[in-house]
Amino acid sequence: MVEASESLPWWKRGVIYQIYPRSFADSNGDGSGDLGGILAHLDYLNDGTPASLGMDAIWLSPIFASPAYDFGYDVSNYNAVDPLFGCLADLDELIRQAHQRGMRVILDLALNHTSHLHPWFEESRASRTSPKRDWYLWQDARPQGAPPNRWQSVFGGRAWQWDPATSQFYYHMFLPQQPDLNWRNPEVREEIEKVMRFWLERGVDGFRLDVVNAYFKDRQFRDNPFRWGLRAYDRQVHVYDADQPELLSVYAGMRKLVDGYGDRMVVGEPLFGSPEKLRRYCGEGRLHLAFNFDLISCGWNPLAFQRAILACEQALGPEGWPCYALGNHDVARLVSRYPGRYALERAKVAAALLLTLRGTPFLYQGEEIGMKNGPVPRGKILDPAGKRYWPLYPGRDPMRTPLPWSDGPGAGFTSGDPWLPINPEFRSLNVAREMEDPHSVLSFYRRLIWFRRSSKALNSGSFRSLIKNPSSGLAYLRESEEETVLVALNFYRHPTQLVLDEDLPTSQWEWRLGTHPGCSGQRVGKSLRLLPHEVCILQSAR
Ligand code: GLC
Repeated sequence: MVEASESLPWWKRGVIYQIYPRSFADSNGDGSGDLGGILAHLDYLNDGTPASLGMDAIWLSPIFASPAYDFGYDVSNYNAVDPLFGCLADLDELIRQAHQRGMRVILDLALNHTSHLHPWFEESRASRTSPKRDWYLWQDARPQGAPPNRWQSVFGGRAWQWDPATSQFYYHMFLPQQPDLNWRNPEVREEIEKVMRFWLERGVDGFRLDVVNAYFKDRQFRDNPFRWGLRAYDRQVHVYDADQPELLSVYAGMRKLVDGYGDRMVVGEPLFGSPEKLRRYCGEGRLHLAFNFDLISCGWNPLAFQRAILACEQALGPEGWPCYALGNHDVARLVSRYPGRYALERAKVAAALLLTLRGTPFLYQGEEIGMKNGPVPRGKILDPAGKRYWPLYPGRDPMRTPLPWSDGPGAGFTSGDPWLPINPEFRSLNVAREMEDPHSVLSFYRRLIWFRRSSKALNSGSFRSLIKNPSSGLAYLRESEEETVLVALNFYRHPTQLVLDEDLPTSQWEWRLGTHPGCSGQRVGKSLRLLPHEVCILQSAR
C-alpha cells in the first residue's frame, strides 16, 4: 500500500480513533473495559493491512486515577493509571505495541479542574491559609450568604459550592466534585507542566485537552449577560467564565513544551467552539488542532453541512488545519441523530464526508459499525447529567454502551456483568459480523480509510465545493498537485441529479470508491447522476 503525503506530520495525515476505555473491551471480566482489552484489539485498529481499520492514532478518554464522579474527567492523580484500567506497566506496553503498529497514542488531560479528592484540592480546602488555597477558585459569600455571582455549572445548578469548614465558596464549572484549578497561579502551571512532561517522557504522542478554553475565568468574577435558553446554564452568554485572553500565553507555553519532544500534538476540545475561535486558538505557537463540532449539530441536509464546512474553511484559510468529528462520548450517536429506515445508508454518506474533508478526522469507537444509542433504563443511569435531567435528557450513557465485538456471550466485550447495559442489537450488529459483510458500514469505513491513506489529494489537497446551494447532495473537489478527487454524495433515498455550478477541470475520471461499485464516472458532465444514498468517489491524475 503506497502511503501518500509522508511529508505531512502524522496528526495531519492520519485518522484518529477515540477509545472510551470503559466500553472498549474488558480483559479481566470485571465488566469494565481496560488497557488489556485495548491491547488485545490493536490489530483491529491497525495491523498494517486493509483488513484492519487503518488508524494512525488512538486517543484514550481518561485512564488516570479517578473516583469517577464524571467517569474519569475528575482526576485524583494525573501520574497514575486507575486500577480499573490496569497499571502504568500496562500503559507502557500499550504505547509500545501501538507504536509497533504505526499508531500514536494520545492521552486525555482534563486540566480545567481536578477531582475534589485530588490531594491538591484536599490541601487547598484544609484551611484558608493553606499554601495551596490559591490553587483553586475560592471566594467569600456576598451579603446574606449569596454565592459570589450567578455563574451556573454545565451539569446544572449554580457553579459555586459552599465549604462550611472554611466558610467560603469554591467554583466548579462541572460537578461540585470537580473544583476548577486557578490557572493564574504559577505553581499550578508548573505542576501541570510536570504532568505533561511525565507522559511525554513515557512516550505518549500528545494530548487531548478537555474544555481547553475554560481554563481562565474573569478576574473580577463578573456576571455573564443574559440570553434565552432552556437550562439556567444556557441562559447566559459565557463571556466571563470561558475564552479569557490569558489562554493564548498558556497555549504558547504548551506548544513549546510539547514540540520540544519532537513529533507530538495537542488537540483542544473547545467549549462553545466556533470557526473564529478555532482560528484564534490553533496554529503556530498555539494548539496544533482544536475540534470543530459544527458537523455534529447539522440537520440531515447537505446545505447545513456545506455551510459548516465552508465557514470553517473560510475562518482557517488554506494554511489552517480543520479537525472534524461526527461523534464522541458526549453526543448522541450518528445513527440515532439521523434515525429511521435509512440510518445505515446515511451513516455511509456521513463516513464518506468525514473522511474526504480537508483536515484531521476523529472517529469515535462504535461509529464505524453504525452503533445506535443504547437503551439505558432509568435505574441504570450513571452519567450525572442524565441523573439530573432525566427524562428531559437521558444523559450520555446511551452513547457509551459497550462495543459489541461479536454475537457471543457479553457481546465479546466482557465475560462479566457489563458496567452499562449492552445494546440488545448486538446480535445482529457487531464487529465480527460487519467484518465479514462487504456491504457493512465497517467495510465501507475500512475502504474509505485505506483509500484516504493512499491519496495525496485527500491527505493534503485543497477543498472546493462544486455546488453553491446544494439541495439533494454535495459535490466537491480535493485537489493536489498530483491528482484530483471528486466526491459526490446523495443525502436522500431518491435518485438525484447534482447540477454543478462550474466546469470540472477534467473529464477523465476513474471510479475509485463508493456505495455502488459498477456505477462509473462516465456520468460526469455539468451534472452527476446518483442513486439513492450513493457515495461516489472519482479520481483523476493531473
Ligand atoms: C468534556 C468531556 C466531558 C466531561 C467534561 C468535564 O466536555 O468531554 O465528558 O464531562 O469535559 O470534564
